[in-house]
Amino acid sequence: REMGRAFVYVILGGGVAAGYAALEFSRRGISPGDLCVISEEPVVPYERPALSKGFLLPESPARLPSFHTCVGANDERLTPKWYQEHELQNKLTENMAAAMRGASHMLDKRCALKDKKGHGMNEMYWTKNNFDSEASMDILSRQKRSRSLENLPLLFPTSIRENMPWNDDTFRGIELVLGTRVKCADVRRKTLLTATGETISYNILIIATGARALKLEEFGVKGSEADNVCYLRDLADANRLVSVMQSNVGGNAVVIGGGYIGMECAASLVINKINVTMVFPEAHCMARLFTPKIAEYYEEYYKSKGVNFIKGTVLSSFENNAEGKVTAVILRDGTRITTDMVVVGIGIRANTSLFEGQLNMEKGGIKVNGRLQTSNNSVYAVGDVAAFPVKLFGETRRLEHVDSARQSAKYAVAAIMAPDKTADFNYLPFFYSRVFSLSWQFYGDNVGEVAHYGDFSGGTFGAYWVNKGQIVGAFLEGGNKEEYDAIAKTTRYKPMVQDMAELERLGLDFALQV
Ligand code: FDA
Ligand code: NAD
Repeated sequence: REMGRAFVYVILGGGVAAGYAALEFSRRGISPGDLCVISEEPVVPYERPALSKGFLLPESPARLPSFHTCVGANDERLTPKWYQEHELQNKLTENMAAAMRGASHMLDKRCALKDKKGHGMNEMYWTKNNFDSEASMDILSRQKRSRSLENLPLLFPTSIRENMPWNDDTFRGIELVLGTRVKCADVRRKTLLTATGETISYNILIIATGARALKLEEFGVKGSEADNVCYLRDLADANRLVSVMQSNVGGNAVVIGGGYIGMECAASLVINKINVTMVFPEAHCMARLFTPKIAEYYEEYYKSKGVNFIKGTVLSSFENNAEGKVTAVILRDGTRITTDMVVVGIGIRANTSLFEGQLNMEKGGIKVNGRLQTSNNSVYAVGDVAAFPVKLFGETRRLEHVDSARQSAKYAVAAIMAPDKTADFNYLPFFYSRVFSLSWQFYGDNVGEVAHYGDFSGGTFGAYWVNKGQIVGAFLEGGNKEEYDAIAKTTRYKPMVQDMAELERLGLDFALQV
């Protein structure tokens, strides 16, 4: 007989998008046991961006549970306990109000709640035939934040407790299936098969499988499984990177790749007192986004921190010692660099493979419509794995950034639970990074002509991208909230620009006046 469980909603993947989707489900009100989150990772969803920043700091590093979702959006932090308890809130308050009304004849005065040890808790606003549900619910929700829901019934006198319509089911939370890979999906039968042999079925599936780091082996380089070669995608990778860094303080590292991981890890390595050489094939860092002028600023800054750049070439092989550790990297141009460790950030692939041949694909991701619904009505896709229509550009894009994961996840849940009230997703792409004491934000699209502005010698500076006469993208380093909001608004509004020189001259003032 087939082992299995059935849920109304299943989120496949336990990363950023999964956490934000779970919170949105809970806020919109689901019943206990309706939702299941399946993740290959052994921990509940966390803010992945922390792994290349706070997590790598030598002093007071960020550690779980401090960065579980959704702290990155200044929202609630969903700990494992939250998943057990939180979505009970609606159900529980309903049940509790009903039970209290039913039992109110048993008491004729205000009731002082007692905890297990008999200590007085909060007074309930409750007198015979006069149950003030709002005030009581308010007290209950305050208590719920501070203690386990399972103890809550104990707060009530036995006579009332016995009248409460609670059973084991009431205490089922959001089902977490952690540390478990899904190895097969069947969208026709609406089932997922886990690596542990369980079949989990759903009415509605949200695919939030994210992406995996590309391996050097996929580019024909062997040996990246060595102990001192680090990739960075998940918590296990980050723990490994920390331990390799700690054993090489004062030593040398080669960073392969000049994208986000390369830049953020290089900064973290420097902060950990490791000498860094960055190697990448392009003419400048962050080639997917930065203009040569913007890149030059960051490269000069990195050089001032001791980072050495080798550009326009790639790794061809590793040299190893008797213990299998990498001791040097050989580049395609013949350069040999001795090293104590290597960090690799050479891009990602979306985790689409479970659905190849079952769902439509585009741009390396699962194609979804403006409601984030795939080619199968019961299946949605969000985050890094989804290729969705970006209205602003009039084309389908797959974005690999945290804000897109958060917003698309929340949006998909809204589209599932309130389809009539939810218009098509209208997303403004937003990317950011923080390294050393620098910090930038980018909104929109980096196509067309570029107007740079500001102080490139260490102050606030930025750029606008103008395509077909309209501003379509904006970048700003070192801005404040008002300035970042202004460039976001400008990009959404897409104003016409006649004179590029005037735009350069006005710089940030142009956005502040939009
Ligand atoms: P995410 O990768 O977060 O989660 C996918 C989940 O699915 C994982 O838990 C995975 O284990 C699980 N999964 C996959 N296949 C499965 C299967 N078959 N069975 C079960 N589970 C499966 N962005 C940004 O805008 N600013 C930033 O500063 C950063 N910084 C940053 C640092 C680092 C180190 C990384 C790796 C990435 C960033 N990003 C970023 C990118 C950002 O983190 C990324 O866009 C989001 O995490 C995407 O969220 P998802 O939920 O789509 O995937
Ligand atoms: P990326 O796409 O940003 O950069 C990949 C880099 O790899 C390229 O810039 C190139 O320099 C290099 N490269 C490509 N092929 C190579 C090869 N054969 N040999 C050597 N170098 C090669 O990808 P990433 O830096 O690996 O980041 C992975 C993912 O994590 C991305 O989705 C990124 O958006 C995300 N991330 C985002 C942030 C952020 O938004 N602040 C921070 C960290 C990670």
